[in-house]
Amino acid sequence: MSTWANLGLQDSASPLMEQLIFFHDHALLILIMITILVGYLMFMLFFNKYVNRFLLHGQLIEMIWTILPAIILLFIAFPSLRLLYLLDEINEPSLTLKSIGHQWYWSYEYSDFNNIEFDSYMIPTNELSTDGFRLLDVDNRIVLPMNSQIRILVTAADVIHSWTIPALGVKVDGTPGRLNQTNFFINRPGLFYGQCSEICGANHSFMPIVIESVPTNYFIKWISN
Ligand code: CUA
Repeated sequence: MSTWANLGLQDSASPLMEQLIFFHDHALLILIMITILVGYLMFMLFFNKYVNRFLLHGQLIEMIWTILPAIILLFIAFPSLRLLYLLDEINEPSLTLKSIGHQWYWSYEYSDFNNIEFDSYMIPTNELSTDGFRLLDVDNRIVLPMNSQIRILVTAADVIHSWTIPALGVKVDGTPGRLNQTNFFINRPGLFYGQCSEICGANHSFMPIVIESVPTNYFIKWISN
C-alpha cells in the first residue's frame, strides 16, 4: 500500500506491474529530454536577431523536425503496444475470482470452490482496531495464493465501479450487464490494498479492496474451511 510521502508508483507485486513501472520510467525519460531541448530552444529565442539576409528556406531543418518527433513517438508507441497486449494475455489461470461492485461494497465469488461467496465492507473509522488502516481495511478480505495465475471477472450490480489494485497493476471497470476479465500473478505474500476508481456515488471513497496473498497450502486450508 501507499504510505507517507510516497508520491510515485507503489512497489510492484506482480510481473506486469513491474513492466508498467519500467514503461513509465522509459516514457518519463523521453519526456524530460524533450522538455529540456524545447526549454533550451525557447530560452535561446530571447537572444534572436530577427534578421537574416540569406534565409529564404530551410528544407533540411524542416525535414529533421518533422521526422525526428515521429521516430521518438515510435519509441513510445511500440513498448506501449507490447504492454497493452501483454496485459490482456490470459495464461491458463489456476483460479477464478469474480468480484461484483455494489453501492457501496464489493462482493466476491470463488466459482471454482463450491461457489463460496461473501461481501466485503470497509471497516468504519470508529470500529477500526489500532493496527487497522483507516478507509482501507475491510471486514472480509480476499485470500489468494501467491505464485499462481489468477483470473478476475469484474461486474457490477447497480452502477459502474472499478476494481483497482495499484501494486498488482490491475484496474478493471465493473459494468452492470457486462463481465470484464483480467488476470494477474502475485509474486510475494502480503496485503495489497485497492480502492474503487470509478465515481460511483456518495460512498465511492468507502469501498476498498484488500487482497491477502498467502502460500498455496495456506490458501487451500482457508478455502476448505
Ligand atoms: Cu464503486 Cu466508486
